[in-house]
Amino acid sequence: MSAIDRIAELVGERYGLNLDPLSEATLHHRLSERAAATKVDGLDGYLALLERTPSPGGEWEELLDLITVHETYFFRDESQMEALREETLPALAKSRKDDARLRILSAGCSTGEEAYSLAILVRESHLFEGWDVAIHGTDVSQRCVKSAKHATYRPASFRLPNPAPHAFTRVNDRMKVNEPYTSICDFRRHNLLEPMPLVPAQSYDLILCRNVLLYFREEARPRLVGHLARYLRDDGWLFLGHAETLPKEEKTLASKFVRGALAYRRAPVRNSDRAPVDRSKKPPSSP
Ligand SMILES: C[S@@+](CC[C@H](N)C(=O)[O-])C[C@H]1O[C@@H](n2cnc3c(N)ncnc32)[C@H](O)[C@@H]1O
Repeated sequence: MSAIDRIAELVGERYGLNLDPLSEATLHHRLSERAAATKVDGLDGYLALLERTPSPGGEWEELLDLITVHETYFFRDESQMEALREETLPALAKSRKDDARLRILSAGCSTGEEAYSLAILVRESHLFEGWDVAIHGTDVSQRCVKSAKHATYRPASFRLPNPAPHAFTRVNDRMKVNEPYTSICDFRRHNLLEPMPLVPAQSYDLILCRNVLLYFREEARPRLVGHLARYLRDDGWLFLGHAETLPKEEKTLASKFVRGALAYRRAPVRNSDRAPVDRSKKPPSSP
């Protein structure tokens, strides 16, 4: 196997990413540049460097930034934003009103525009005033996470009409997200192929994982979606990118159209899938 093929295999094993769409020439060029920058002996030396570097971090950080796509912008996908604003958030405001607690995950958040768009939708809805609200953004790229925490954006992040200009303050040629919106967002590095440390099952009411799955190898997709399904609450909602679908192995989620946008919810357990009940056993005594 060539060094390039083995590097692509390692990237797939550790991060689930599919490098096939990059042409051989592009990949060769990018990897050779990193090999030269790290002063190792060609692509074989670069492969050896990656193999002995624990991921994430170190040279993996540099490589991931070369091979991942970070494109994102505020209020991306208007039909999903409308579905969230008009149906999903109002439904969650009802179903979660006893706890007055809302947890949202923006998985593969890139530089944070998605998480802050959600923060704006949540606050502008006025449905969650006085609630304990937290929006967690995660990305495998430490640079993206740092940039998300900085919350300052160039005009390229605003490709659609901005429904809440008051949520930003102009700083030179950039726009900074204001404190009431940043204070409910938190960002950390996380590889979506792995479970999230210390996060119990059913932690999130709403998960957005958009435009991430399409960069994954087919065989890695069930693992990523399996993690998301586990973190989704019974009455929660998952949104993928509009060009993405669930892998066929995923059986716990079912699709549902919300105002023309596709969302996923926990599938009702069919009678045939229920564990048989042993009626000879007494019910457990109450604590
Ligand atoms: C195209 S951006 C999508 C940003 C945002 N979700 C959106 O739809 O606008 C894809 C992001 O997924 C991240 N990513 C790729 N592989 C990942 C992995 N294994 N774990 C976590 N994030 C990953 C990339 O770093 C990149 O920032």
